[in-house]
Amino acid sequence: MREPKIALWGASSKDAGGPNGEPAPLKLPWIPKVQRKKLYILLLEDISVSFDGFKALDGLNLYLTEGELRCVIGPNGAGKTTMMDIITGHTRPTQGEAWFQETINLLEKDEVFIAQAGICRKFQKPSVFESLTTWENLELALKAQKTVWSTLKAKLKAPEKDFLKSILELIRLEPVENKVAGALSHGQKQWLEIGMLLSQKPKVLLLDEPVAGMTAQEIERTVELLMSLEGEHTIVLVEHDMEFVRQVARKVTVLHQGRVLAEGTMDSVSSNPQVVEAYLGGVSIC
Ligand SMILES: Nc1ncnc2c1ncn2[C@@H]1O[C@H](COP(=O)(O)OP(=O)(O)OP(=O)(O)O)[C@@H](O)[C@H]1O
Ligand SMILES: [Mg+2]
Repeated sequence: MREPKIALWGASSKDAGGPNGEPAPLKLPWIPKVQRKKLYILLLEDISVSFDGFKALDGLNLYLTEGELRCVIGPNGAGKTTMMDIITGHTRPTQGEAWFQETINLLEKDEVFIAQAGICRKFQKPSVFESLTTWENLELALKAQKTVWSTLKAKLKAPEKDFLKSILELIRLEPVENKVAGALSHGQKQWLEIGMLLSQKPKVLLLDEPVAGMTAQEIERTVELLMSLEGEHTIVLVEHDMEFVRQVARKVTVLHQGRVLAEGTMDSVSSNPQVVEAYLGGVSIC
């Protein structure tokens, strides 16, 4: 059977655009699925999820190229977190496909496998070990990849120590290396958690609202941190802080009612009348 002609980067195949103001899919050349899987490190196609008959995702398409930093925005309830739940294997869709690195069918893998395959997720609330120091948290995260208990007690080898030091430098927490995490500021805890994820050498990092609750200075520092990760890791950043998104975004995907409403530069999506309407009933998002 011939596969449907799905418009890349646009809304779902069934969105023809039409009388009720639904967006038409963005028109891009059709590429056979086998090539689509090769082109993108992460590919979600026509994903739908229902909760008690309510469609949290409704024909979602997402295509990520290796090393890109993609911002995903959208009003409350748009389906952003549910999208991450699908990618990490936490929630199963009722339809669609999800592929990682061409050959890994995410819908057939469990959360542990997906994390070990290199898709790491940071939830909004920092989840560091408060009674351990910054360094110990990083060390634990590094060792936690190894499943044998004895490795948790084993001393770090020199290259591992150097690797953790480089992360400590990247997240700029050297001055608080020996401080217990419970005494760190909210922003520092968020950076520490990002550092803990980095210690696992992730291929894809999913960050759900990383700057929520941060001071302006902490946000500025987070912009620098994310920019320094660009190219090294593929990052999906869900965020409500539009000023922050404007600073880090190359390409922005706007979700609304479980599907892609618009995609492009921050300037293009923020001036899109449908996006403005979806957000605040006509008030500009920036
Ligand atoms: N486990 C669940 N059971 C029932 N409904 C759910 C469940 N998870 C999500 N939903 C619903 O699905 C919709 C999408 O939720 P989701 O959390 O993905 O939105 P979001 O875009 O992350 O919103 P926010 O910006 O507020 O974090 C919402 O209407 C939400 O109430
Ligand atoms: Mg959410």
